[in-house]
Amino acid sequence: MTLFRGNIKYSDITAKADFLNRRQIIAGAAGLGAASFVGGAVQAQNLEYSTTDYAVNADITPKKDATSFNNFYEFGTGKNDPKDNASRMKIDPWAVEISGLVDNPGNYSLEDLLSGIALEERIYRFRCVEAWSMVVPWIGFSLSDILKRAGVQSSAKYVAFQTLNRPSEMIGIKRNPKFPWPYVEGLRLDEAMNPLSMIATGMYGESLPNQNGAPLRLVVPWKYGFKSIKSIVKITLTETQPQTTWNILAPKEYGFYSNVNPSFDHPRWSQARERIIGGGIFKRDTPMFNGYGEEVANLYAGMDLNKNY
Ligand code: MTE
Repeated sequence: MTLFRGNIKYSDITAKADFLNRRQIIAGAAGLGAASFVGGAVQAQNLEYSTTDYAVNADITPKKDATSFNNFYEFGTGKNDPKDNASRMKIDPWAVEISGLVDNPGNYSLEDLLSGIALEERIYRFRCVEAWSMVVPWIGFSLSDILKRAGVQSSAKYVAFQTLNRPSEMIGIKRNPKFPWPYVEGLRLDEAMNPLSMIATGMYGESLPNQNGAPLRLVVPWKYGFKSIKSIVKITLTETQPQTTWNILAPKEYGFYSNVNPSFDHPRWSQARERIIGGGIFKRDTPMFNGYGEEVANLYAGMDLNKNY
């Protein structure tokens, strides 16, 4: 079933055919989902998953660009480094510790964490703070699905996330030991519970490649890409605002909120426009909240958006 919010235009017919093929191959990991997205190849399943296009009229970024032009500093700072180096990361077995202000804390295997959770495909715009953008067909589910299961306590106000920190498999950590590893990120609880906040386990109809944050990563489409933390091993519910990696590194440049905002420039470059990755020389105007204002603007009522929170 495909639920379109707008028409999908594919930049290239071959890519579309490949994409549709893959989509049919895994048609609907929902229900059986977890097993088919743990390590290894995606297996054929009989169930269906739905697709929703949240990137109205935007060309889907060619898969080869979305999987070879990456930011994942644990594997190096060059854009091709993650693709070249991330295959050394072992993603099976994988566990996620859920801790802090929850009724059901624990160290959950990926299989347990995802069991019974229905997967869906969502096509989202993705805007990096470096002023480039992509349109990615993610597969996953709302972050709120696992938070609700964890039993968030009423005193919780934030959600903190942490990435795997395993230098033996992550050459960027070895090369750059002074970086404040592990990579950490956070959301306010109401942001985390917003239906757009997603945990992705796949993209382009397949399991997530390691360089894109396998086996599970956050995707928050109205915020700059650095909020979308990869290869998550820990989720903690807290009462106080958690630290976030880029804010620790450069607090004057990267705030906690970091909502996409074309009228609030980075101190060193404009955020008004963005380069379309895989789109040749094309640029486009960046919309407020990356185009998701209808869904999320109410979260920031009364806040001065032209400020680096
Ligand atoms: N997560 C971790 N653990 N380490 C990182 O370096 N980079 C962030 C984010 N998540 C990063 C991360 C940045 S800056 C961006 S733009 C996106 O991942 C890039 O996601 P992509 O490579 O899937 O496009």
